[in-house]
Amino acid sequence: MSWMIVIVKMEDDRMDVVFVEDYEAMSRRAAEIVAGQIRQKPDSVLGLATGSTPLGLYRLLCRWYAAGRLDFSAVTTFNLDEYIGLSPTHPQSYHAFMQEHLFSKVNLCPARCFLPDGMAGDVLAEAGRYDARIEAAGGIDLQVLGIGRNGHIGFNEPDDHFAVRTHRVHLRDDTIQANARFFPRLADVPREAISVGMGAIMKAQHVVLLASGSDKAEAVHRAVCGVVTPRVPASILQLHRAATVLVDADAAALMPEKWRHAGRIHIG
Ligand code: F6R
Repeated sequence: MSWMIVIVKMEDDRMDVVFVEDYEAMSRRAAEIVAGQIRQKPDSVLGLATGSTPLGLYRLLCRWYAAGRLDFSAVTTFNLDEYIGLSPTHPQSYHAFMQEHLFSKVNLCPARCFLPDGMAGDVLAEAGRYDARIEAAGGIDLQVLGIGRNGHIGFNEPDDHFAVRTHRVHLRDDTIQANARFFPRLADVPREAISVGMGAIMKAQHVVLLASGSDKAEAVHRAVCGVVTPRVPASILQLHRAATVLVDADAAALMPEKWRHAGRIHIG
């Protein structure tokens, strides 16, 4: 006997897609959401991403902290991923990235800023520890996500299934190519990473996906307007109860006009 699972989506389930003009507007909207979360719940648990996309967001958060408008002292953070084989002090590690762009510039407590340990001898055990830490913190209140050109979120690469738990990932060639810009040579880009799985992301109270630039247009279109499939990992967010997509004009270029007026989608 064969089974087919049909997911029926209600109109209300649709993602909250916010169209903004450009990278600056996207970053400001994202910073307002993160700041609002921290003001409303000072001991919030934030899920954080690395890469080019959230740099403007982090810049604004640092600026608002310096201006006395934000207090991170009770906040806990969990990053999505880390390369296997890079130590926290390696300049291309995500530990170093977060240190440079956020942790060293605000009053986050270092003991409450978590990333997977890319140097763990037993990756499986480290993945289990990371999930247990997220659960012990009460889960993620607000998860910030970027999107890969192939539709990945965290390092959940296109696959024939969704990985639920934190796991070891063999990065795909297109991801290695895309990330080569941060490394001296293509050969230096690690081939493996540890990534949070879809379980922690889908259990987050609120998810904000940021997308900017024409190289993200196809991934955004497939994730927001296409079918829910592990071939486009970000498409799972269509089933999240509170997912906001902040998309700038270039990244929204392939979204049909009617999407701009339907459901909860609105123009920022
Ligand atoms: C990084 C991460 C990745 C990136 C994605 C987009 O922590 O989780 O999913 O968000 O690869 O990267 P950028 O922003 O560099 O285009």
